[in-house]
Amino acid sequence: MKAVSTQRLAWAITGSGHYLRESLEILSTLQDVDIFLSRAAAEIIQQYGFQAQLEETGHRVYQDKTASSVPVELFYQGKYHTLVIAPATSNTIAKMAYGFSDSLVTNLFAQAGKTRVPSIVFACDTAPELESEAPRENMVKVYPRQIDLDNVAKLACFEATKVVADMAELTHAIHERLIGLK
Ligand SMILES: Cc1cc2nc3c(=O)[nH]c(=O)nc-3n(C[C@H](O)[C@H](O)[C@H](O)COP(=O)(O)O)c2cc1C
Repeated sequence: MKAVSTQRLAWAITGSGHYLRESLEILSTLQDVDIFLSRAAAEIIQQYGFQAQLEETGHRVYQDKTASSVPVELFYQGKYHTLVIAPATSNTIAKMAYGFSDSLVTNLFAQAGKTRVPSIVFACDTAPELESEAPRENMVKVYPRQIDLDNVAKLACFEATKVVADMAELTHAIHERLIGLK
């Protein structure tokens, strides 16, 4: 395992419009971060017109281009102290809750768990009724299904996994983790 001081934060973004803007804002305040995009995230960032914000964070960006999720190897090298997944779609939450690792982001979560690197997950579907941002700044009402809420609750029981419900909790959890590493 590498010395903590040389380790970085891994931040995965999935294909969610919900709190994507805010997640990018938090990312722009952090240092020593690598970003990992799901295939859907790469599309959604374009659709919402957030490519410039992503680039302005100045962080290295890894895309989901390979069947075996090659960038996951970086976890085996001990490069990261923490994995943040924000925002996390109901799709990725469901896969992670049932132990799937068939995409870059679900692989990062699985390998973080297997190498005992803590994860912080902001799940989109944390309440029965939500206001969500659609492309072109339209707000829409969404009603997560019971299965979506159940999957979030299941994931929250995983070892070394903190599920947060809003941006304030996400910011707090990241800062707590960074302070704990010093
Ligand atoms: C404009 C747009 C916005 C979306 N926003 C969300 C969202 O807020 N939450 C969600 O769970 N899925 C959302 N989706 C659907 C996901 O992108 C889709 O389920 C995708 O397969 C997720 O893949 P991933 O989990 O690998 O990123 C959105 C799709 C589109 C086209």
